[in-house]
Amino acid sequence: MTDPFDFEKPARYAVMGNPVTHSKSPRIHAQFAQQVGQRIEYTAIQVDPGGLAQAVDQFRASGGRGLNITVPFKLDAWRLAGRLSARAEQAGAVNTLRVEADGTLYGDNTDGAGLVRDITHNLGVAVAGKTVLVLGAGGAARGILGPLLEEKPVRLTLANRTVPRARELAELFAGLGEIEVCGFEDLAGRHFDIVSNATSASLHGELPPLPDGLFAPGALAYDLMYADAPTVFLRWAGAHGAGRLADGLGMLVEQAAESFFIWRGVRPDTAPVIAALRS
Ligand code: ATR
Repeated sequence: MTDPFDFEKPARYAVMGNPVTHSKSPRIHAQFAQQVGQRIEYTAIQVDPGGLAQAVDQFRASGGRGLNITVPFKLDAWRLAGRLSARAEQAGAVNTLRVEADGTLYGDNTDGAGLVRDITHNLGVAVAGKTVLVLGAGGAARGILGPLLEEKPVRLTLANRTVPRARELAELFAGLGEIEVCGFEDLAGRHFDIVSNATSASLHGELPPLPDGLFAPGALAYDLMYADAPTVFLRWAGAHGAGRLADGLGMLVEQAAESFFIWRGVRPDTAPVIAALRS
């Protein structure tokens, strides 16, 4: 396959975040590039708090072509972008930057598309017509609400420890569809077909205070986080009636594939990459 970008040196990409040293993204993008016969260099760059603008400038000045942006810089990246995709604009968060020919930064957010593709395509679970619960109203929830609404669930509920924060977020997406907002205690007696954990609780080995009976028969429990061992949320879900469990590894690879497409114009096959990471 010929590579329209194949100059002397491989085009440079990176993921910026903090912490970022254990990121799987370099490995994922190296596999994508190999699969589609392109030469790229993809590294992980740890950025100090407040240092994203400077780090991006430096990367761009040294010929860098595109970036993934991860925790805690997705809102900063949104502010840095000179032009935004509609979904990034809506989310107020950017996880993908592309350096345009004139040096401006194009910002997109591929997180929600990655989640939806993992659920619908890889796991074979339709979102359309289902009741969906999203836990958490931080950066992770921001990226996924729009793409979830576009799948036309029968109802989308957003529950957060701090309810006003969930309300604020729901209002941002009012143009795309209705989001029901509540606190965790309001979930008692309710059940859902898809329960997606977008809190950062799993990161700290914690669990939001969730009531029993949250899962409809056969329901999917999806943690946006992934770890080598099942997260606290997935262990709890498995013991409390969820029919299927999924961590965020598939979403990670799918959002990466979407970023790769934005940069390189080719969509890699994700299945072998997910399988390699699992093994
Ligand atoms: P991020 O951008 O990584 O999502 P964040 O903006 O700090 O981080 O958001 C973290 C989310 O996880 C929030 O919804 C937070 O709830 P609050 O808005 O009430 O702070 C939620 N969260 C974090 N730890 C939690 C815990 N132990 N139990 C329940 N929710 C938790």
